[in-house]
Amino acid sequence: MEEHVERWTDVNPAAAARVVRQIVGMLALSMLCSILFVVIYFAVPKGDVVNFGPWHSNAHTILLGLTGGLAVLLIGFSTIHWAKQLMNDEEVVDVRHPIASSEDDHAEMAESWSAGVKDSDIGRRKLIGGMLAGAAGLAAVPAVVSLADMGPHPGKGTRAATIEKTIWAEGVKLVNDVTWKPIKASELEIGQMVNAEPETLEPLAHEDHVAFHQERAKAAIIIVRMNPNSIKVPESRKDWQVNGILAYSKICTHVGCPISLWEQKSHHLLCPCHQSTFDLGDSGVVVFGPAARALPQLPITTDSEGNLIARSDFTVPVGPSYFERDSRNDYKKGDN
Ligand code: FES
Repeated sequence: MEEHVERWTDVNPAAAARVVRQIVGMLALSMLCSILFVVIYFAVPKGDVVNFGPWHSNAHTILLGLTGGLAVLLIGFSTIHWAKQLMNDEEVVDVRHPIASSEDDHAEMAESWSAGVKDSDIGRRKLIGGMLAGAAGLAAVPAVVSLADMGPHPGKGTRAATIEKTIWAEGVKLVNDVTWKPIKASELEIGQMVNAEPETLEPLAHEDHVAFHQERAKAAIIIVRMNPNSIKVPESRKDWQVNGILAYSKICTHVGCPISLWEQKSHHLLCPCHQSTFDLGDSGVVVFGPAARALPQLPITTDSEGNLIARSDFTVPVGPSYFERDSRNDYKKGDN
């Protein structure tokens, strides 16, 4: 190994003192960020929006991300700075050994741990050690405070008004999710898949960004057209489709990833996150993967101009399951 080259901080006490001040400064800033995180969590209203030109984001997300991220980042930077500039920087070689350690190895490990602690100067540099412990302890507080987001427990009424309903309703047009243009049944070819949204979603983008994203997360659908003779349509869903055009929720029933990997021939829709596969030619039943229930189907028909419109909202909640969910209306393979 190359010979050890002394660092400026090894030979110049003033430089070492400056590095100590830098480390302590970073750790103090980290503590400040952790405290700011908690203050922002309670002081900034959850619905506030930050506008950066055409880009909008939730103020909570931006500010908590910045302060929480900086708190952890500064701890990392300060410890790296400490290790590079002040700790003993001699390189040590450890030879490869069998997986099971012997008693001797244990003793050697304990010895090198003590040597490492001694080399780190943590005993002598009490200020840095104390600040590091304080910053690390405070950095855990934001994680604990964020647990408050898990409450309050949503009662039946809250669930019915939020996660159990979407903005789909009778007569709402299905529109392309990029152009926002209504989709006509005659425009779709067999084998085609289109991502769509309710026409009532677009106005929300200009009025209320938070509501827009919340509703979009639940209302997103995919429309597929299959040969009507090649699919199974149960009696109870005969009028939910238009000549082999069917609409399904785009949100995976496992943990909620958006899905759009479509295999025209098998009629399978594959979720990219954990490979749950749904058979859209059989009411969206699960044919593979961890999802536990069929993909919710949106009942559709056409209006007098041939545009695809919804017959109603989804008949079951979309997205991942939860304990209180009533699964009586879920479609199960073989149901009619
Ligand atoms: S979220 Fe789709 S399989 Fe897990």
